[in-house]
Amino acid sequence: MEKEKDLPILELKQVWKTYKMGEEKIHALRDFTLTIHHGDYMSIIGPSGSGKSTLLHMLGLLDVPTQGQVLIDGADVNLMSSDQLARVRGMKIGFVFQVFNLVPSLTAVENVALPMMIQGTPKKEREEKAAEILRGLNMGDRLDHLPSELSGGQRQRVAMARALVNDPELILADEPTGNLDSKTGDDVVRLFDTLHEEGRTLVIVTHDAEVAEHAEERVHIKDGTVLKWHGGDHAPHEKRYKKR
Ligand SMILES: Nc1ncnc2c1ncn2[C@@H]1O[C@H](COP(=O)(O)OP(=O)(O)O)[C@@H](O)[C@H]1O
Ligand SMILES: [Mg+2]
Repeated sequence: MEKEKDLPILELKQVWKTYKMGEEKIHALRDFTLTIHHGDYMSIIGPSGSGKSTLLHMLGLLDVPTQGQVLIDGADVNLMSSDQLARVRGMKIGFVFQVFNLVPSLTAVENVALPMMIQGTPKKEREEKAAEILRGLNMGDRLDHLPSELSGGQRQRVAMARALVNDPELILADEPTGNLDSKTGDDVVRLFDTLHEEGRTLVIVTHDAEVAEHAEERVHIKDGTVLKWHGGDHAPHEKRYKKR
């Protein structure tokens, strides 16, 4: 990863995300300001309903703000077409969701190769790359298995491999260890640590304090806004965690 550390990859400036439910408005994010720099390793912690998934969708350019600005490498997502957003997403971002979203009729290799197909990589090349990544995750003997023929931990590794196959700078994960036994969860966390050492940018939403502890920065959110910010060099002064 050649990008200069300390340059922002993502900036949220006074972002609101508001859902209308009949007459009622739900502010999933309210006046949310956050900067993520190249190479950051951040965890997002907060109670259910606090806006974590909404935030991750915003960071992943899967959604645009109701109000406020989201910038990726300085470019305002409000000024980008949905085609442009999809292209940036495909080039820069890898998603790991709690629900693995694997295609049931495709093998492990084919599932992992899918994002490369969307990018137009030839079949042989993409299946070789997919197999290589799966082997790196200890899945070399499961390449041709369907998702239904894999355990939960193995499916998660397929989902991780798929997130990594386009060599993304930014990895976004929503409760990545939520459905895993502790051994597999440890493997996933170790993989995150390695990705961080390689210079990638990671943002991990988690309920698991141990997973959160691995990150260099921990951002606590509540009711759609930042409550507290632990570690890192970039926390706004008033949100910095003070040791008691
Ligand atoms: N598509 C939607 N329509 C309406 N309300 C939503 C939608 N998505 C999320 N919300 C609401 O926004 C709030 C934040 O949700 P979410 O980001 O999923 O929280 P978390 O991931 O922290 O549990 C919740 O009150 C939720 O009910
Ligand atoms: Mg959620």
